[in-house]
Amino acid sequence: MSNKKIMVSGIQPSNNLTLGNYLGALKPFVDLQKKYKMFVFIADLHAITNEFNRAMLLKNKKNIACLYCACGLDIKKTIIFNQSDVCSHNDLSHVLLCHTTLGELKRMTQFKTKALTKNDNNTSFIRTGLLTYPILMAADILLYDTDVVIVGADQKQHLELTRNLAIRMNNKYGKMFNIPQPFILKNASRIMDLVDAKIKMSKSNKNQNGVIYLLDDKQTIIKKIMTAKTDSFNKIRYDKKNQLEISNLLEIYASLTDKNINDIVKKYRNKNYKLFKEDLANIVVEKLDIIQKKFKKISKDFDKKIEPILKKNAEYCTAIVKRKTKLVYKKIGLTK
Ligand code: AMP
Ligand code: TRP
Repeated sequence: MSNKKIMVSGIQPSNNLTLGNYLGALKPFVDLQKKYKMFVFIADLHAITNEFNRAMLLKNKKNIACLYCACGLDIKKTIIFNQSDVCSHNDLSHVLLCHTTLGELKRMTQFKTKALTKNDNNTSFIRTGLLTYPILMAADILLYDTDVVIVGADQKQHLELTRNLAIRMNNKYGKMFNIPQPFILKNASRIMDLVDAKIKMSKSNKNQNGVIYLLDDKQTIIKKIMTAKTDSFNKIRYDKKNQLEISNLLEIYASLTDKNINDIVKKYRNKNYKLFKEDLANIVVEKLDIIQKKFKKISKDFDKKIEPILKKNAEYCTAIVKRKTKLVYKKIGLTK
């Protein structure tokens, strides 16, 4: 057995992946895959908590698996799999649901923004999967004796709930779960939309001009960056309070180049926004071009090379997490 710490994370196959997903999730997975024993799954059970259609779901699942590899996850080291192939995620989720209150779930910011704003306070038409989603996420994490979870800032509250549930269950029935820690990213924990920097860059944003997709073509990327909203100071400073937009672009720059933000600010001290944006556009185009080329190649080989590994990994995961559900069932009295 390796004594590496365990890291678990997943991304929903609910649309094409964004630069936010790359910087807030995929890139750190890649950077850390040597240091940790890493389980990275395609969160398909989470994706069906939103509106979805069958053909798109299947296509997005394949795309995410290929993008994981194209971004640099080493399929021989990192355990990549489809969440729905490992049944224990649902088994544990049910047990955890029975130990969570409605109040806890209704407090979740993501639930409030996704569900309640659309329907005022009338909850009758909200799909319950949207409400119970964080419990499934807790099960994803607790099944694997996870030490560390990489998530963007938007998911921290869910991780806090996971920790609370683990402590609650351990206190009530005796130790069964490891308490996971969040992994805090230096930059890029919350990449914002390029048109409206008050909202995060997300697959579901209405105005697509503010969202860079990993599979966007070169011209689209350049256009999105060159037309990104900025202020009228025309001074490149990292000041999230007064210059939110340029600070967001600086974070993207720093995160993509692994450079320190202060050094970048120094480099562009007397330069204007246009020049800075041109440089940034080049950096993004160059990075995504490499990913897209690999993606194309990997996609062609998906059925032969990737899919069998996903299946094998799911079998491996099924075997290890079964031990955990067995222990939980025993501790709470479902089995002797
Ligand atoms: P999702 O697309 O909601 O399944 O998110 C998958 C992962 O990407 C999660 O860890 C998110 O926190 C992360 N993520 C998504 N959007 C962003 C963003 N704009 N900035 C940083 N991380 C993000
Ligand atoms: N909820 C996460 C998101 O929307 C995806 C996710 C599901 C996840 N299960 C997870 C992330 C477990 C980390 C660990 O971004």
